[in-house]
Amino acid sequence: MSFFQNTCQPKGFAGKIMVNMMNVGHTALAKWGLAHLTIQDDDFCLDIGCGGGANLRRLLRKSPNGLVTGIDYSEISVQKSKKINRAAIQEGRCEVLQGDVMKLPFSENRFHVVTAFETIYFWPDIQVAFQQVYRVLKNGGTFLICNEANGKNTKDEKWMGIIQGMTIYTSEQIEKELKKAGFSKIKVDQNKKNWLCLICKKED
Ligand SMILES: C[S@@+](CC[C@H](N)C(=O)[O-])C[C@H]1O[C@@H](n2cnc3c(N)ncnc32)[C@H](O)[C@@H]1O
Repeated sequence: MSFFQNTCQPKGFAGKIMVNMMNVGHTALAKWGLAHLTIQDDDFCLDIGCGGGANLRRLLRKSPNGLVTGIDYSEISVQKSKKINRAAIQEGRCEVLQGDVMKLPFSENRFHVVTAFETIYFWPDIQVAFQQVYRVLKNGGTFLICNEANGKNTKDEKWMGIIQGMTIYTSEQIEKELKKAGFSKIKVDQNKKNWLCLICKKED
């Protein structure tokens, strides 16, 4: 198995290295993506595919009186996320669950904000997953997707060959699936590095 397979689902020792690398290597992307988001200080936020948990920490800073939940289907990701957010977990401001986006273990209308950084590539059916996100978002809630790859780079094919189960989507493909799942007010941003950020609403 390639080391990079751990981006899809971190496992074992190599997975531990990968989650540490992601927490450092995705910093600039995460900051750029989060700059698109308005968060109230008491919002309930969910980060799907939370990896090493660095974005949970960032969300906790943005909503100091809220509740930040992380979910990831990798045990290694959950362990690392819990470790780096231990204080907030003890204070009851953060929780991290092991689970699959395809069947989110939350009641409907629960979160003000849902984020997905560098993870939708690995979701087996983005339409089903987007419907799950729509269900758990509150009316008026926001969904943010942030990807380093935009499906228009020659290297994208190479990565999809190396990492089993990876699909790199164009913004047009993501937008189409978001609309089909019920989202509206979709905004797309792309920077000089071809990083992609989509932000959309579950309308009241
Ligand atoms: C490339 S990492 C990104 C981690 C983190 N969001 C970041 O930006 O550093 C992708 C993460 O998504 C998780 N993931 C992939 N498919 C998932 C699924 N179906 N349900 C939950 N988590 C998933 C993986 O386990 C992994 O931790």
